[in-house]
Amino acid sequence: MKILSPSILSADFANLGADVKKAVEAGAQWVHIDVMDGMFVPQISFGNPVITALRPVTDAVFDVHLMIEDPGRYVEDFAKMGADIITVHAEACTHLDRVIQQIKACGKKPAVAINPATPLSVLDYVLDDLYMVLVMTVNPGFGGQSYIPYCSKKVRELKAIIKERNLETLIQVDGGINMKTIDEARDAGVDVFVAGSAVFVGDIEANAKALLERIQ
Ligand code: DX5
Ligand code: ZN
Repeated sequence: MKILSPSILSADFANLGADVKKAVEAGAQWVHIDVMDGMFVPQISFGNPVITALRPVTDAVFDVHLMIEDPGRYVEDFAKMGADIITVHAEACTHLDRVIQQIKACGKKPAVAINPATPLSVLDYVLDDLYMVLVMTVNPGFGGQSYIPYCSKKVRELKAIIKERNLETLIQVDGGINMKTIDEARDAGVDVFVAGSAVFVGDIEANAKALLERIQ
């Protein structure tokens, strides 16, 4: 099954609960939660209180994308807040294997994100441990950027590695996914599509439904 994970970064923060409900009611299976620390990426987004407030709003899977330095410091906190999947950046972890084990020890699903310029080889020894790989299709930090076309090649290569190793690891893309780019990502073999502005700018229900139709 192909999954839509709307990124709340582009939602109306004054009406966050209502916006998330609309996306989920339209069929989005996950909610993508972008945590930014102003260090790993330029912006500061939100943290603990916002996620805690949002947790009772929906039963949808909370897909937490940590764009923060040394994320191991906060894995337990995010697990307690109700994250289901915790994604850390390979570039932000000095001890990537340790952080993956920490996420598993909390009973959560571990995922690793790689920036556009980061090669797949950083995953060679940890791939078997991962629930999902997030192939960033923009440089992280902001919503509304353009899809970087060479990332499709990376998705195809990763798909082939996953197949060759007989794994069930999901491939997620994040950044610049919209009605113009989603077909290319789907054809490259993506399982989970993050979309921020393409869902939350305009008619949320219609946007989510249109994107879901393209991936099913
Ligand atoms: C970017 C974030 C994304 C962002 C995507 O650093 O990780 O999740 O919200 O936004 P769009 O879909 O508008 O490119
Ligand atoms: Zn994200």
